[in-house]
Amino acid sequence: MIDDVLKVFKKLDAKDFRILTGIETGMKHFEWVPIEELNKYTKLPFEKLEYRLKRLVRDKLVVRSTQPYEGFQIYFEGYDALALNAFVKRKSISAIGDEVGVGKESVIFEAIRQPELAIGEPYPVIIKFHREGRTSFKQIKRVREHLGDREHFSWVYAARLAAQREYEIMTRLYPQVSIPKPLDQNRHAIVMEIAKGSLLSKTKLLDPEWYLDEILRQVKITYSLGVIHADLSEYNIFVSEDSVQLIDWPQYVTLDHPHAEEILERDVSNILTHFSRKYDIKRELEETIREVKSETGKITEDGREDIEIKSNYGTVEKLDDEEESFEEQTFEEEELEAEEFEAEEFEAEEFEAEEFEAEEFETENLNSEDLKKATSKKEITDKD
Ligand SMILES: Nc1ncnc2c1ncn2[C@@H]1O[C@H](COP(=O)(O)OP(=O)(O)O)[C@@H](O)[C@H]1O
Ligand SMILES: [Mg+2]
Repeated sequence: MIDDVLKVFKKLDAKDFRILTGIETGMKHFEWVPIEELNKYTKLPFEKLEYRLKRLVRDKLVVRSTQPYEGFQIYFEGYDALALNAFVKRKSISAIGDEVGVGKESVIFEAIRQPELAIGEPYPVIIKFHREGRTSFKQIKRVREHLGDREHFSWVYAARLAAQREYEIMTRLYPQVSIPKPLDQNRHAIVMEIAKGSLLSKTKLLDPEWYLDEILRQVKITYSLGVIHADLSEYNIFVSEDSVQLIDWPQYVTLDHPHAEEILERDVSNILTHFSRKYDIKRELEETIREVKSETGKITEDGREDIEIKSNYGTVEKLDDEEESFEEQTFEEEELEAEEFEAEEFEAEEFEAEEFEAEEFETENLNSEDLKKATSKKEITDKD
């Protein structure tokens, strides 16, 4: 589990990360990366490689196969460690906290981020690790036996693709659509702001009509930008005092999708069903869809309708933070362009990390017991 990764993460040093990156890179060409390849990639002598690989296998960051030939695959936990390493190095996060959610295809952690330009306090953010194609440690071996030599194991790519897709659409929709601000992406992981409030499924609303309207308004803005969420339900919507936020975007479709109509209908229907069952609010599906698709006359250039929003407590607030968030986003985009990490560039990225040491990681968010363990295990690392 990823909890364990946080523990073993502290024990990993630059050489371990290089081995993990070597396996990741090798997996583009090999189903099981032979130790000879890792020797070429890491320049570590076989004996040391073998010693470190044994530990990585023991800590379940890496899987070893002996059939049909000896080789290694990175496992999700190893991949998590690589993504965390990248986030820490480029200062997207400075510390890792607790697991705060598990979805169908993800594991969600809290992390700490330093404020931009060091103005203000560090604040909590979310890391979403994608888990598409997840198989258990044992399953991997079983599936492997099943597949024989024929098929390449592609979960790493499935999960990475999903994260890239989700991050891209989030940066496209934010801030016009009310979603958590996307902050960074690496491999199969995304850093984003924490959604406000709680999941709609777990909340009893005092003013459900207002929230239903607001959700539909977000669906409408999304649609006006050419996008349909495609997995919309009470489990992917956060509600707070005065806002709703839509989360979980990797399966979005664009309007040219052959089933766009049905997909939109399903999304809207899920919402209407929820409000009907829980709050006995009845709305006609077809009419609601017509309204979602109707000309978005009043929507301003940045996609937000120029309307007033009302909080749950009856106060009325005008949206006035748009200009600010737009500027922030532009800044972010420039930064991201400058450090775009394409698959091929992983190598360079990790190789430059020669001087990089695992000790550099902030440890403030691990409890002292973890820290003790991490420090004592570190001795093992130092032996070779
Ligand atoms: N930005 C966020 N802020 C707070 N909680 C989140 C956030 N993103 C996800 N979560 C929590 O993690 C759960 C799973 O995330 P989600 O994006 O829905 O992935 P999945 O595809 O696995 O359902 C959510 O139901 C929610 O409880
Ligand atoms: Mg979800």
